[in-house]
Amino acid sequence: MTDTTTDEPTRDDVAALRERVEALFPALQADLEALVRIPSVSAAAFDQAHVAASADAVATLLRDAGLPDVQILRSARPDGMPGAPAVVARRPAPAGAPTVLLYAHHDVQPPGEGWTTDPFEPVQVGERLYGRGAADDKAGIAAHVGALRALGELAAAGDETPVGVTVFVEGEEESGSPSFHQFLTDHRELLRADVIVVADSTNWKVGTPALTTSLRGLVDGVVEVEVLQHAGHSGMFGGPVLDANVQLARLLATLHDDAGNVAVAGLVTAPEPEVDYDEAQFRADATVLDGVALAGEGTIAGRLWAKPALSVIGIDATSVAHASNTIAPRSRAKLSLRLAPGQDPEAADRALADHLAAHAPAGARVGWTRWEEGKPFLAPGDSAAMRAARSAFTAAWGTEPVDIGVGGSIPFIADLLEVFPDAAILVTGVEDPDSRAHGADESVHLGELRKVVLAEALLLRRVAEGL
Ligand code: BES
Ligand code: MN
Repeated sequence: MTDTTTDEPTRDDVAALRERVEALFPALQADLEALVRIPSVSAAAFDQAHVAASADAVATLLRDAGLPDVQILRSARPDGMPGAPAVVARRPAPAGAPTVLLYAHHDVQPPGEGWTTDPFEPVQVGERLYGRGAADDKAGIAAHVGALRALGELAAAGDETPVGVTVFVEGEEESGSPSFHQFLTDHRELLRADVIVVADSTNWKVGTPALTTSLRGLVDGVVEVEVLQHAGHSGMFGGPVLDANVQLARLLATLHDDAGNVAVAGLVTAPEPEVDYDEAQFRADATVLDGVALAGEGTIAGRLWAKPALSVIGIDATSVAHASNTIAPRSRAKLSLRLAPGQDPEAADRALADHLAAHAPAGARVGWTRWEEGKPFLAPGDSAAMRAARSAFTAAWGTEPVDIGVGGSIPFIADLLEVFPDAAILVTGVEDPDSRAHGADESVHLGELRKVVLAEALLLRRVAEGL
């Protein structure tokens, strides 16, 4: 997989750096815990003062890691409102040296229900640190800070690394990066880099690193079904009139075929991946209940990475507690459609809108309003930077990495690559299949985080030496 004849860092190099990472790790873990205590949920319904506080905390960490130029910046969203605060910290490249852009996000998903412990009070159990954002993506911030600290100590010892570093930590990734487009217009030159490291993905499993070579895109929005002007008595009118909830359910049921594949015509499917998940392990990671069949056809990795997926992520209807014997005039559902690599989000949006209109049950009024869209990512072939990353992973883990796709989305990557088409992009991360990002009891594996820090330090040094 990797040409190891000339690329490999020497064993002594790796051992010395690994020792530094071990020595700095307790303080780094404490810094990660402090970040997790800040409930920086970027969703609109949550207090955005916490997002501002986490930006401040990240700025302090990066300043202390030795980056002389640290700014907190906001750009406008398309609706004119200010976006969330992003931290940009830089050490400009010495003349002729390359620049590396290190990305992570400091905002998190809402905590949701079902936590064993307080989501914003980090708790270590064995090798795992629990808390919202402990993995996604405050661990990504810790990875960058840790790598810079490890190399900073080397620099202090006279072993200067001739590489420019820009750390970009945004505060609204979990809300679809709405101001990023404007941010790129406002601050394009600040972000210009030769190599981009996006530490917001997952590894293959604990003990096996991965380089992410594709991500799915996303279209979401709300479908509304309307059948009456207003609610009527369900005894008086029920029978000839089907309520909006039933009509919505019938419409939603058309979105998948009997095998569980997405039934919206015209969506792109990418080629089957070369690796696959073990079915039993996948069921365990996803906590699928015994007896519940998996949906769709093809390999599991193919269904996750290379095909569309459609989930109903919310329904507005009268609650059970407030139910009365009436026929509901309207109800609505939020749909989240994941897109295969190669799929144009606009085309997917049209395909979904056409499907919903064509399947309107019995003349019910069906409306579709798109909310967000994000482009998928497909690594544009192999690069020297990707080979260097694989070699750094191999040195840090003692195990060769796997090239993986990911079913999740990081839409800003495609936007960034449009602006910097010549930059080499490396999608890495700290998560593992048991990290439960977005769910209850999210956690990071601290042994894996140590390896990610070491690998990133090795990679930065490698870029400094010339790819
Ligand atoms: N870190 C995730 C993306 C991810 C998910 C990587 C799973 C690896 C495995 C990222 O923070 C995320 O959740 N993105 C959102 C994007 C959306 C809000 C546009 C997602 O995928 O839902
Ligand atoms: Mn993330």
